[in-house]
Amino acid sequence: MKINVISMLGATLFAAQSFASIPDTASVVRSGFSVAEKQYSYMLNEVTDLSRYPRSADPNGKTSFTGIGDWTGGFWPGCLWYVYEYTKGEKWKEAATRWTESLDKNQYNTAHHDIGFMMNCSYGNAYRLTGNEAYRKVLVQSAKSLMTRFNPTVGAIKSWNSFSSWSGKAVYDYPVIIDNMMNLELLFLASKLSGDQSFRNVAIRHAETTLKNHYRPDYSSYHVVNYDTRTGKVLSKETAQGFSDNSAWSRGQAWGLYGFTSVYRETRQKRFLTAAIKMAEYFVNNKNLPADKIPYWDFNVNQEGYKPNWKYDPARFKEIPRDASAAAITSSALLELSGYVSGARKKLFVSTAKEILSSLSSAAYTAQAGTNGYFILKHSVGSIPHNGEIDVPLVYADYYYLESLLRLQHMEMKDKI
Ligand code: GLY
Repeated sequence: MKINVISMLGATLFAAQSFASIPDTASVVRSGFSVAEKQYSYMLNEVTDLSRYPRSADPNGKTSFTGIGDWTGGFWPGCLWYVYEYTKGEKWKEAATRWTESLDKNQYNTAHHDIGFMMNCSYGNAYRLTGNEAYRKVLVQSAKSLMTRFNPTVGAIKSWNSFSSWSGKAVYDYPVIIDNMMNLELLFLASKLSGDQSFRNVAIRHAETTLKNHYRPDYSSYHVVNYDTRTGKVLSKETAQGFSDNSAWSRGQAWGLYGFTSVYRETRQKRFLTAAIKMAEYFVNNKNLPADKIPYWDFNVNQEGYKPNWKYDPARFKEIPRDASAAAITSSALLELSGYVSGARKKLFVSTAKEILSSLSSAAYTAQAGTNGYFILKHSVGSIPHNGEIDVPLVYADYYYLESLLRLQHMEMKDKI
């Protein structure tokens, strides 16, 4: 463990004892990865079919799966890469490689925008940690596939092929969802790997369009914005997975915060930093954020002025479900963003991320080994309006949780050097 931490930072002179002198952070990181090793060892023993990607758990606690075309396929190899990064164990590298390479044909997938999630979380981490040249080509081809969905008149990448309003009033053929901000990292990476600036230019254009059309003055976000491809005009602003069209769906808030933070990292343009800060402040100062900092699945559930267009039965939920996945994504984003700000703001972003991670690593959210479909975190929400994956583990909650723990560890180590 000492050696792993040191080699990750390339700081061979650093004494590992000083890390151990930050008990809170050290124990949160250590216990998170210890649970990950236990749970994922069970998973690897039981799950051997490389065409079935672990995603969640059924009501009996058995792992449930998706196929190669689903948006979540890259997270399981990504989780394995993070465990490898922490442990340097060959077992994890071998498994991560096997699962990553099973996604090979997705580099040609142009069916939706999610190729960024699928390929950057798998091949992106694989390339970062191994430098394998073959992965570079896969990443550049994946970015080319994503580029096929960009329309210069709209100035954004098309997310889904169509979107039907919950109100039943319309079906749209150019929906862009806030989640799409997460696919831009693949484009920035492809420019760096290929020298071709067009990937990066499209990413910046998409971010500009999203900032202009997806955000309200308080920096809460619409989930879906539908465009007219002939004029580039906005046709409607709605929700698919949130409480109501005008509400703040928690995972959407998290995707936006994370996405704009990474666009700032790649561009150093102040407007993106300012936006990311406002998004972070929406979260950290929100009066509807519970004390343990794990958000409800939407910030505006049951509030006056927010009316669902889908079939909502408030009596079904004694308590408003939380979304651990939104919390994990947010903590990872806050940790990165804290590196771009200073003073009280930096302190607040770091302390909120730590509070999130401390809640997630408690028994309230972390599963007992051998349960929870072999995932780490409990209590995430896929989509309540679609009546799917309510209060369950989700592979992407684990992925961003492990990423946050690594970011926290790197940050604390850097501060000590
Ligand atoms: N991108 C889909 C989701 O966040 O549920």
